[in-house]
Amino acid sequence: MTRTYSRITGTGSYLPPRRLTNADLVAELATQGVETSDDWIVERTGIRARHFADAGVSTSDLALHAARQALEAAGLEAKDIDLIVVATSTPDMVFPSAACILQNKLGIAGCPAFDVQAVCSGFVYALTVADAMIRTGTAHKALVVGAEVFSRILDFSDRTTCVLFGDGAGAVVLEASETPGILASDLHADGKHVGILCVPGQVSGGVVAGHAMLKMDGPAVFKLAVGVLEEAARATLAKAGKTEADIDWLIPHQANIRIMQSTAKRLKLSMDKVIVTVDQHGNTSAASIPLALDAGVRSGKVKKGDTLMLEGVGGGFTWGAVLLNL
Ligand code: UT7
Repeated sequence: MTRTYSRITGTGSYLPPRRLTNADLVAELATQGVETSDDWIVERTGIRARHFADAGVSTSDLALHAARQALEAAGLEAKDIDLIVVATSTPDMVFPSAACILQNKLGIAGCPAFDVQAVCSGFVYALTVADAMIRTGTAHKALVVGAEVFSRILDFSDRTTCVLFGDGAGAVVLEASETPGILASDLHADGKHVGILCVPGQVSGGVVAGHAMLKMDGPAVFKLAVGVLEEAARATLAKAGKTEADIDWLIPHQANIRIMQSTAKRLKLSMDKVIVTVDQHGNTSAASIPLALDAGVRSGKVKKGDTLMLEGVGGGFTWGAVLLNL
């Protein structure tokens, strides 16, 4: 009996047009008495610019653009899709899911559609779930999206977080295939770290209860991230019977260039093998990996047949990796 695998057959992405350089953001924050600088942001994070969605533009709007591009790249139409998984922590509504809203905007109906909430690890979680559903025959052509409007949950009086994040969306089409495709994945969570990166708010009685803004203990997240990204990469390579030398491109979550440099060093990979978009996108949470993947593909660096290590880490605490042949 032939085994079924899953394989990425198309990628897409979208950034909302409003782009703020560090200088733009520094000037805007200064009018509110918040002091920061281009030097600090570049030196500590590598970020030079980010995109913010305009008021009224939601996660599903960004997801729609990215999804259409991925479908076009795969040579498919929306009606061919039989599974939609959206990784997001900033859905359009409390419910229904951004995936259901995206499905309707794509003009299709009937296929399962749901969101995955694993913050910045969301895309590797979503890809792993879609891969499992394809391998078991539940789905054949899946749309897997990471989309966020993190600008909506930023506290612009908190300079330790508001300079770090941006909005955007990335998408892939994942199809059943006789050859892999996704080689292995490794997902984890540890809920005892909930307090180091969270949005401690909820809707109660028709009003927002708590503090519905992003809070982060940056240094604590940084320290955990560097260790678990190495572990997840090694575990995924071991499951696939591969070594670091087999990786053509490391496509990590884009939070901080220093985390990426440290991960690459631990995996004995040169930075020439790392796709970096954090400088232009900032941290777009669940959107960052598919945005970086699509940027790599469209720039011509990442080619069909390459072996890619995708890695995410974020609130929860969650982390994980997916190794695949494109
Ligand atoms: O997406 C999920 C995963 N998230 C991450 O991976 C984020 C991980 N963490 C980080 O990337 C880094 O910890 C940060 C970029 C958030 C912070 O960098 P850091 O090198 O850890 O700086 P720090 O928090 O230790 O702050 C150093 C100094 C402090 O001043 P003092 O106490 O030394 O006087 C901060 O108050 O930098 C100050 N600072 C700023 N100064 C100017 C913090 N934010 C800013 C700012 N502008 N925006």
